[in-house]
Amino acid sequence: MEFLSMICLSFAVVGFFCFLISSTRKFAAFGRGKLPLPPGTLGWPYIGETFQLYSQNPNVFFASKVKKFGSIFKTHILGCPCVMISSPEAAKLVLVTKAHLFKPTFPASKERMLGKQAIFFHQGDYHAKLRRLVLRAFTPEAIKNIVPDIESIAVQSLESWEGRMVNTFQEMKTYTFNVALLSIFGKDEVHYREDLKRCYYILEKGYNSMPINLPGTLFHKSMKARKELAQILAKILSLRREMKQDYCDLLGSFMGDKEGLTDEQIADNIIGVIFAARDTTASVLTWILKYLGENPSVLDAVTKEQEAIMRTKEEREEKALSWADTKKMPITTRVIQETLRVASILSFTFREAVEDVEFEGYLIPKGWKVMPLFRNIHHSPDNFPDPEKFNPSRFEAAPKPNTFMPFGNGTHSCPGNELAKLEILVLVHHLTTKYRWSMMGPQNGIQYGPFALPQNGLPIKLSLKS
Ligand code: HEM
Repeated sequence: MEFLSMICLSFAVVGFFCFLISSTRKFAAFGRGKLPLPPGTLGWPYIGETFQLYSQNPNVFFASKVKKFGSIFKTHILGCPCVMISSPEAAKLVLVTKAHLFKPTFPASKERMLGKQAIFFHQGDYHAKLRRLVLRAFTPEAIKNIVPDIESIAVQSLESWEGRMVNTFQEMKTYTFNVALLSIFGKDEVHYREDLKRCYYILEKGYNSMPINLPGTLFHKSMKARKELAQILAKILSLRREMKQDYCDLLGSFMGDKEGLTDEQIADNIIGVIFAARDTTASVLTWILKYLGENPSVLDAVTKEQEAIMRTKEEREEKALSWADTKKMPITTRVIQETLRVASILSFTFREAVEDVEFEGYLIPKGWKVMPLFRNIHHSPDNFPDPEKFNPSRFEAAPKPNTFMPFGNGTHSCPGNELAKLEILVLVHHLTTKYRWSMMGPQNGIQYGPFALPQNGLPIKLSLKS
């Protein structure tokens, strides 16, 4: 889920209005209450501090602000006044304890593209209902059954990379896309996979475009592809209705709901889940290859753990990996946790105050954005000593409460986290037991789009172990 990149550009477009409204409110709030706004600077009118944030590594911006103003500070980016928070306690307050005062917020153009009825954009009863349906399809009980299918996708993907130079992120996107389709449609999607892929790839190209819906623009092409996606989904829905069977995938969960979701609600949420599932997991996998490549002793420990599982399976003449096998991978699991922490691919999230909120002695005016800074929390030496070091063994002890939130926290936390971890474990099993890889080209750069990725998507060359 390129939540962040998705959010960014279009904020600029709506930003001007946001700025006008917020400025008026800001002064109204000053007049009304006695509470001060959080410390910090708002920068230039309208532009605010957007350039300072995006012209450098965003972490430098956050770190310098935290150093100067403390764990809560105000700024103005992408046309909107924001309060950024970087203490675990404050993040919990926004995401969990006082979640009803802070609604999720996205630019209107993104809502149109993904679909207004998608889970991310809602609160209250409708959100709770969708969440129940999504969680039902991604519980360990539900995804246990698809381990062998995920495994075949992983094996085929790795085989297709062998002997050539590949862009890790691009290839991982194909893998995570195929796993997402499997978890949504079961095996039904195979007939539609290429069409779904073609439309989705056009749709995503428009995520970060200017929301100008005129023929020829990227946004227009995206909206057309979205329509086509909805038509393919309508075909799959009508086929399922004819079959009159029970399915335990996400589509089955949506269609089986007694209260009933409309076809439009189902389509919006399926597109939304693909969006949330694909780039996030692909990016984490890309970072894992990078960190394993740079830390030979960690790679060695992971490989030994995975080889031991492979040997046991061979001895028992079992072919496919099982859910139980994936629970016997503590070292690999800690590598995933440490990657999620160090890479913090979702550096922050956005909420919006639904009313004037008194927060740790400050006023957060209604309409202001609030951004819990996950990356800062994950990189604070108070929470994780020597935070820049990739050290999976730190997770041998549980992190302090509310300091580790790679999947968010509270009512909107990630319902797909078990699936994400499962598909990563399965791919790493086959990768480390059968292949070696070398990273090609410069390896120190990070792309901030503002979504963090190794430079150029981490080109690698993969070969079979002798
Ligand atoms: C390693 C991969 C992943 C990471 C790091 C990740 C991270 C997150 C985070 C941080 C949130 C909360 C955002 C917020 O509070 O604003 C979230 C929400 C969400 N994620 Fe994930 N995610 C991952 C994979 C997945 C997968 C595989 C799926 C689906 C199968 C998924 C589906 C969702 C959905 C539907 C939401 C919205 C939940 C709601 O609004 O109630 N994610 N994810």
